[in-house]
Amino acid sequence: MRYITIVCVFSIIVSVAQFKVFRKCCPKNQSLIKLSSLDKNSRDKYECIDYDRHLSEYKEVSLNSDLVVNQNVIIDNGIPQKCNFSAIEQFGEYFNASTDRDICYDRIITEINNGMIIRSSNLSITMLKCDGFEFMSRNKLKVQSIVKCCPRDQVYDSEYHLCRKSHEFKEEWLIRQLRLNISDIFFIANMMNCSRDEYSVEIKEGIYRLALIKRALRITTENGDDEYYIKWGSWCVDQDYMSRRLLARVCTRDCFEFNAYCMRKCCPIGEHISRYDTRSFSCTQNSDDRFLFNLSSYIEPLRRKKGDIGGEY
Ligand SMILES: *[C@@H]1O[C@H](CO)[C@@H](O)[C@H](O)[C@H]1NC(C)=O
Ligand SMILES: *[C@@H]1O[C@H](CO)[C@@H](O)[C@H](O)[C@H]1NC(C)=O
Ligand SMILES: *[C@@H]1O[C@H](CO)[C@@H](O)[C@H](O)[C@H]1NC(C)=O
Ligand SMILES: *[C@@H]1O[C@H](CO)[C@@H](O)[C@H](O)[C@H]1NC(C)=O
Ligand SMILES: *[C@@H]1O[C@H](CO)[C@@H](O)[C@H](O)[C@H]1NC(C)=O
Ligand SMILES: *[C@@H]1O[C@H](CO)[C@@H](O)[C@H](O)[C@H]1NC(C)=O
Ligand SMILES: *[C@@H]1O[C@H](CO)[C@@H](O)[C@H](O)[C@H]1NC(C)=O
Repeated sequence: MRYITIVCVFSIIVSVAQFKVFRKCCPKNQSLIKLSSLDKNSRDKYECIDYDRHLSEYKEVSLNSDLVVNQNVIIDNGIPQKCNFSAIEQFGEYFNASTDRDICYDRIITEINNGMIIRSSNLSITMLKCDGFEFMSRNKLKVQSIVKCCPRDQVYDSEYHLCRKSHEFKEEWLIRQLRLNISDIFFIANMMNCSRDEYSVEIKEGIYRLALIKRALRITTENGDDEYYIKWGSWCVDQDYMSRRLLARVCTRDCFEFNAYCMRKCCPIGEHISRYDTRSFSCTQNSDDRFLFNLSSYIEPLRRKKGDIGGEY
């Protein structure tokens, strides 16, 4: 009898100890925004706001993504109440998290300063902490940062080389495809930036295999013969709009290395030339499918000769 009791107590302690708790400021269908104060004597405000409402108020911006929390982490929502708090940024692959109600953590998806929207690409999670509260770390949480090629509600179309709205896409899909579920929190950024003399080559799963090794993207050929590591800042991943498979875009000067045909596109992806004379041109955001960057008359003959080919910028 005594033996059974001891066994039970032991197993309860073990299962409680396995859970990690994350004090996230905002609930799942809301996001944290920062309203900066112009007055030096008053504090910045932080609010949880419905994503849909926010999107309709600030139509012109694509907002940052919320933090995605792994299913094995228990989420406890709420911004500290009845206290003055300050905001402290947490950087890095791990952070020591408190589970106390006087603290919460979240990503600021937008900062509004004097009616102007600031989109921060800072890879930080903000901690809101009641002034004077003594911090006690309870959890060590692992943070994985992922760079998504397109804004949060869009995916990448590798046929026409632009971002397109997707109603089904969920960021959890990217995490599953990249097999990252050992991390606790996922920070999804949009900040790939090739330098002017580089091309951005589209790497498709099926021809290549993609994996994240810390902050580098590992690309291997299906037969395992070739392997490349692309450093942070030079890769992004997304769903391919047509095939619904994983895709990466990587910055390179050597398109040949990836068997890609590269081409210099005058305007950034998702934009087209709207005005042109012999001395200058200007780029405008595409508003609908009339402006697809349709290269099929060039690409199809190549495809017939060479099989599937990589992308271009
Ligand atoms: C947000 O989610 C909560 C809980 O899931 C729900 O009660 C609430 O109605 C939702 N709000 C909106 C605007 O969908
Ligand atoms: C918050 O700060 C203001 C002034 O900065 C002070 O008047 C107020 O009492 C503080 N509130 C709490 C709960 O500490
Ligand atoms: C987290 O806590 C551990 C021990 O409590 C400490 O050694 C480590 O430096 C802390 N890390 C950070 C980033 O604060
Ligand atoms: C980004 O982080 C840096 C360093 O902490 C900070 O100085 C800067 O204000 C941050 N930018 C934004 C837009 O939050
Ligand atoms: C991660 O995913 C694999 C397969 O999808 C599953 O077997 C495993 O239990 C998951 N691990 C965690 C920590 O969720
Ligand atoms: C990204 O590009 C912008 C201009 O398009 C530049 O100002 C910025 O410094 C670049 N960032 C990085 C990390 O290369
Ligand atoms: C792209 O161009 C090809 C050949 O010019 C044409 O057949 C095709 O319909 C175009 N695709 C779209 C979506 O407009």
